[in-house]
Amino acid sequence: MTDPNEFTLEERDFERIRQRLYDVAGISLSDAKRTLVIARLSRILRAMRLPTFDAYIEFLETEATASDAQDFVNALTTNLTRFWREEHHFEHLVSHIGELMETRKSVAEKRLRIWSAGCSTGQEPYTIALSLLAAYPELKRWDFKILATDIDTSVIAKAAAGIYPESELNGLSAERARLFEKAGEGRIRVPAAVASLVSFKPLNLMSPWPMKGPFDAIFCRNVAIYFDKQTQGEVFGRLGQILAPGGYLYIGHSENLGSGSAGFRLVGKTIYQARSASERARNAA
Ligand SMILES: C[S@@+](CC[C@H](N)C(=O)[O-])C[C@H]1O[C@@H](n2cnc3c(N)ncnc32)[C@H](O)[C@@H]1O
Repeated sequence: MTDPNEFTLEERDFERIRQRLYDVAGISLSDAKRTLVIARLSRILRAMRLPTFDAYIEFLETEATASDAQDFVNALTTNLTRFWREEHHFEHLVSHIGELMETRKSVAEKRLRIWSAGCSTGQEPYTIALSLLAAYPELKRWDFKILATDIDTSVIAKAAAGIYPESELNGLSAERARLFEKAGEGRIRVPAAVASLVSFKPLNLMSPWPMKGPFDAIFCRNVAIYFDKQTQGEVFGRLGQILAPGGYLYIGHSENLGSGSAGFRLVGKTIYQARSASERARNAA
């Protein structure tokens, strides 16, 4: 049992923690997140045998290694996700990719790129791969890759393993559940042919992005919800630049593009299509 009053979080320390997380990850912590901060960071204080939050922040600001700084971010992200979350997005994706495949006939054109930005423990990119391979087995012969990124290195490691408790299948149809393999000891595994389509990489959306795109579709769902309005607009605007014209952006059910909406048209519930360059120019005129 841990004592909830083991460490006291002074207002000044909460502010410094908030500021640090905002500066590093763009994440805005509301006052309501005080208890979460205490619970998550107390574990680190205990492990490091530090007496107070003040001592921890002092450590972060002076002698922390990159790995200590990463532990701070990992502790404060929220990673809730599941297979086929907001399933209408995957239905839309399957039909969009089907139409797109009709237009890409030559070997050189048979290329498909999808990005799951803020992929957490991997259920989102694996759902993309499972849905598309089940609908279009010929994609195995395409140059088809899914990039899956997250700022939190611990979730990226779990995602790359591709192994989950069987309880992850709860609520899925028998048809979808059959797409996984049994891994023993109450666990399931994403089949190797599916997992090989997905590359997991750590990436902070606040940093420059090393990839050029263009992507045919981007999922950035339930990530910007933790950012303030200005940061949301900037991130969605950048996503519009790296999407292929006509490509789709899928966002979370409670999110909107805000000031990043200029390059998009709304085509479905939380589904946006990137406008072509000429459309953007016409809109701006
Ligand atoms: C609630 S999960 C969403 C997972 C998945 N997209 C879904 O909708 O089920 C939010 C994820 O965003 C990640 N995240 C938060 N800030 C980020 C940032 N600045 N750059 C990249 N990922 C970030 C978190 O680490 C977390 O795994």
